[in-house]
Amino acid sequence: MKNEPLQILMCPPDFYDVRYVINPWMEGNVGKAVRSIAREQWNTLCSRLQEIARVELIPPQPGLPDMVFTANAGVIVGGKAVLSHFLHRERRDEEPHFQQWFRARGFDVSEMPADLPFEGAGDALLDRARGWLWAAYGLRTELDAHPLLAQFLNVEVVSLRLIDQRYYHLDTCLCPLDDGWLLYYPPAFDAYSNHVIEQRVPADRRIAVKESDAMRFACNAVNAGRHLFTNEISAELRATLENAGFRVVETPLDEFLKAGGAAKCLTLRLDEPAPRSARAASTVQGRRVRLEGHLLDSGLLDRALDVVVDGGGSFRILDFQLGRQRQSTSESEVQVSAPSEDSLDKIMARLIDLGAVVPPREESDAELQTVTQPGVAPEDFYATTIYATEVRVGGQWLRAQNQRMDAVIVVGNEDNRPVARCKLFRHLRAGDRVVVGSAGIRAVRKTGGRDPRIRFSAEKDFAFMGAAVSSERRVELVVERISWEMRRIREQGGRIVVAAGPVVVHTGGAPHLATLIREGYVQAVLGGNGIATHDIEQALLGTSLGVDMHAGALVRGGHRHHLRAINTIRRCGGIRQAVEQGVLTSGIFYECVRRDVPFALAGSIRDDGPLPDTIMNLIEAQEQYSCLLQGADMILMLASMLHSIGVGNMTPAGVRLVCVDINPAVVTKLSDRGSVESVGVVTDVGSFLNLLVRRLRKLENEPVSLHAMESVAA
Ligand code: ARG
Repeated sequence: MKNEPLQILMCPPDFYDVRYVINPWMEGNVGKAVRSIAREQWNTLCSRLQEIARVELIPPQPGLPDMVFTANAGVIVGGKAVLSHFLHRERRDEEPHFQQWFRARGFDVSEMPADLPFEGAGDALLDRARGWLWAAYGLRTELDAHPLLAQFLNVEVVSLRLIDQRYYHLDTCLCPLDDGWLLYYPPAFDAYSNHVIEQRVPADRRIAVKESDAMRFACNAVNAGRHLFTNEISAELRATLENAGFRVVETPLDEFLKAGGAAKCLTLRLDEPAPRSARAASTVQGRRVRLEGHLLDSGLLDRALDVVVDGGGSFRILDFQLGRQRQSTSESEVQVSAPSEDSLDKIMARLIDLGAVVPPREESDAELQTVTQPGVAPEDFYATTIYATEVRVGGQWLRAQNQRMDAVIVVGNEDNRPVARCKLFRHLRAGDRVVVGSAGIRAVRKTGGRDPRIRFSAEKDFAFMGAAVSSERRVELVVERISWEMRRIREQGGRIVVAAGPVVVHTGGAPHLATLIREGYVQAVLGGNGIATHDIEQALLGTSLGVDMHAGALVRGGHRHHLRAINTIRRCGGIRQAVEQGVLTSGIFYECVRRDVPFALAGSIRDDGPLPDTIMNLIEAQEQYSCLLQGADMILMLASMLHSIGVGNMTPAGVRLVCVDINPAVVTKLSDRGSVESVGVVTDVGSFLNLLVRRLRKLENEPVSLHAMESVAA
């Protein structure tokens, strides 16, 4: 350690200033740096460093105020220099000066490709004790620079993602110290990166700094052996560092803090030795995907790229073919990268849900893993969505049967042919082969955007959001559209399933829903104990939750009415029995029994009674729901968040969903399935049903024609 002093590059602050804003520290500080003080602070740091190092100087340049921060010139390990390529245009003119200096000094200089930002030792810090390079991405340096860095310097690169703009360079929030210590500020990193740090550095060597110290750039320290040079820090942190055996030299640098830099930023280590067991390695993984559709106008590309970045990855658009006509689709090939195989898989799974596919030449079969414990899926299972999904088995794409959300895909053999099926955890049996990872899976998404049917989804917006537009007329327009569809479904012998909550009864909708059932518009009713109880209460006693449905007034003792209704049905043995015994003679469930329309009532913890028909075993209730939903063409979700969400999860995309609720949040949640077939209506469900029945009546007397519909949509 003694013989050769360390070598450090610095740049005198002759032209230092805050002239632009490229990080949050610079905000409000433009023109506020006092050069004379900066000079003094810089001199002090420089002379303190000279006690233990040889400081070399690069001539400062007019018009390059940030050139003092030599940490961003590049990174040097074992005589090899990788030159920076700044993200911000403001600093790019520094590049040729540093390049020249490195070359003149005899370093073996490598450069990143022109469009790949990399900000030198600001984002790449050698951990001498462990022999790897910590490298950051997410704010300044691009993830794709990391594998190149590994290659150029012949080192192992460990990627960490920065997520706080204030800690925009790795050296603002992490500092590897002598003897395996690590000084860092955990909140500056995403959860995955924190996990990586915790896995690689034992807890007793990690010094996590508090926010107040992080804000004073305590992590932006220059470490040389046992010496640590830093801006002023808290007494507490100082003590911790001294206990760890460091000689802390505090030297004020607040003039430089105005530009977002401190001790470490002002220096570049020139003689960093190559780690002993060096090897080029990076965990960064990449994969290509293809996207096709109305990439721009439907916002699909946007969403896909967000998925990548939010998932801690990075991307490069390799190819983009723009569809020029209104109807034509675009195509794009994107290279996706992520810091590990695991994070890439997670990103890929989400891209697949958006309809991304792997280019044919890179396609592979889906990976299958065997269930060993009944009812438990293998760890890396692929979770299904509402979109039709295909898996590749033996080179062939198979469409998964029973598509639904939150299931896994099981590949098996039926009649000597491979079959893929969506299965819930609870249906998994030992030996089932479950699709895991993200290879060989694709979702079949309709290319939303310019299909004339999209006008349906435009309605969706105007029905519940649009600028101040929950007007009656808009609800009427949606009802006109829905009634027309219901009529067609009935004519074609299709299936309409209603999922409804007790509010249907409280708002006076029960007689209307009963009418729909009587007139053959409903093929199944799904609900809970509540809707049946209040429907029957109204039929037997004229009240709903004790409110007289004609007078609209509270009835004395009426709060007990629903219990009396339940008791009556219990006496009869069930709803059907009550109808057969002539006890129940009107209402929603009376019509169901009369018309042989099946219903399923799913119980819950709050149910009174319950009615004998209510299924208190929820697994059984789910099975019944799912059974009644088979083959549905349209689902009306009427004022029940609980039952509607359950129904939504069981229903594949492509089934027309109509969600009616007075609460916009419920409507948004349920109708925002990213598919064109769902429509939300924010309105009182009772008046909605009233309108719907009236409209259907009107239609009965008019011939169904497409023409009529088009004039409605226009
Ligand atoms: N104003 C400079 C920038 O935002 C400060 C650079 C500080 N350097 C560092 N290694 N953190 O780029």
